[in-house]
Amino acid sequence: AAYDAGEHESFMHKEILEQPAAAERVLRGRLDDRFATGHLGGLNLDARELRAIRRVKVLGCGSAYYVGQMGAELLEDLARVPADAEAASEFRYRNPIIEPDTLYVAVSQSGETIDTLLAVQEIRRKGGYVIGLVNVVGSAIAREVDGGIYLHAGPEVAVASTKALTNMFLGFAMLALQLGRVRDLSIADGRRLIAGLEALPRKIEEILATEEQLEAVAERLAEAESLFFVGRVRGFPVAREGAQKFKEISYRHAEAYQTSELKHGPLALINPDVPTVAIVPDDELVERNVAALHEIAARGGPLVVVTHEEVSLEGLPDEGVERIVVPRSERELDPILLTVPLQLLAYHAAKRLGHDIDKPRNLAKSVTVE
Ligand code: AGP
Repeated sequence: AAYDAGEHESFMHKEILEQPAAAERVLRGRLDDRFATGHLGGLNLDARELRAIRRVKVLGCGSAYYVGQMGAELLEDLARVPADAEAASEFRYRNPIIEPDTLYVAVSQSGETIDTLLAVQEIRRKGGYVIGLVNVVGSAIAREVDGGIYLHAGPEVAVASTKALTNMFLGFAMLALQLGRVRDLSIADGRRLIAGLEALPRKIEEILATEEQLEAVAERLAEAESLFFVGRVRGFPVAREGAQKFKEISYRHAEAYQTSELKHGPLALINPDVPTVAIVPDDELVERNVAALHEIAARGGPLVVVTHEEVSLEGLPDEGVERIVVPRSERELDPILLTVPLQLLAYHAAKRLGHDIDKPRNLAKSVTVE
């Protein structure tokens, strides 16, 4: 059957709700319980070649770049290999050093984004090895790379990407597992992650079931002309992606910031008209993150705190503070669960404002000209 929005009012909404099934598809057949590792045949790299990798450089544009940042964090965390992400649109213009022992990872839903494609070509021209995390089978980037992981998210029509991004994250998690297990990641940690990955689709479903609360919060956020999204370390790319989604379809000014950097400047902008969406997982930074919430509340800034059950917000005012609780996963996998409610916040804010959600002004689904 043709892919249409069916009973959904938009493709974006349909695609958000498809995430549990899409996540199952990307994981299927790719987790190896016996050796507690990832089973990604398409990388075209054997154990010895994987071990020889000294660095990982992730490239993508827009949301693919932000998920790439989450992925780099995962890779560094689990495989203990230095990893970072860069906007593919900038990469080739700074005459980058291409190293033979670096694994380059190009991330793209469409596989047709020209900036990402040109970055891949620049790397290969200089003799680098590039793998793709791509959704569209047979797309330009998929054809150009040395190996890769297809994302199996299914067709994505809405300009604002959701399910493809979730599957990118899961692709990175499996890559980090496989890379980690030829290095220092223990079998126990490997099993812990596999169990965490297998439980993710159900946890995404739990978040989707809270849509009514998210809708109510979004309708309030839609009234603000300008808002902040803040997070730290693993939570920062989550904030970036949350702000991106919000900007794209609500046309509100949404700025992502590291929570730790607020006091170095933007705190000057906090007032009762500027809400902050704060990513506060129950991790090693929770106390500092909560302290920052107090700084914001003290200036009258409304707060939406995306957090875990265990995190106490005691001492913050009742009024103007909304708490959105997401289920926990393994700490390395938490970023993707923290991202899902932000999709629904953006969606319902845009809906409230009466915008064309699937085709926001000035944007194309894939940007094929430089
Ligand atoms: C996502 O919501 C955006 N529309 C945009 O940032 C997108 O992720 C970017 O243009 C990259 O597209 P790609 O994944 O198809 O390469």
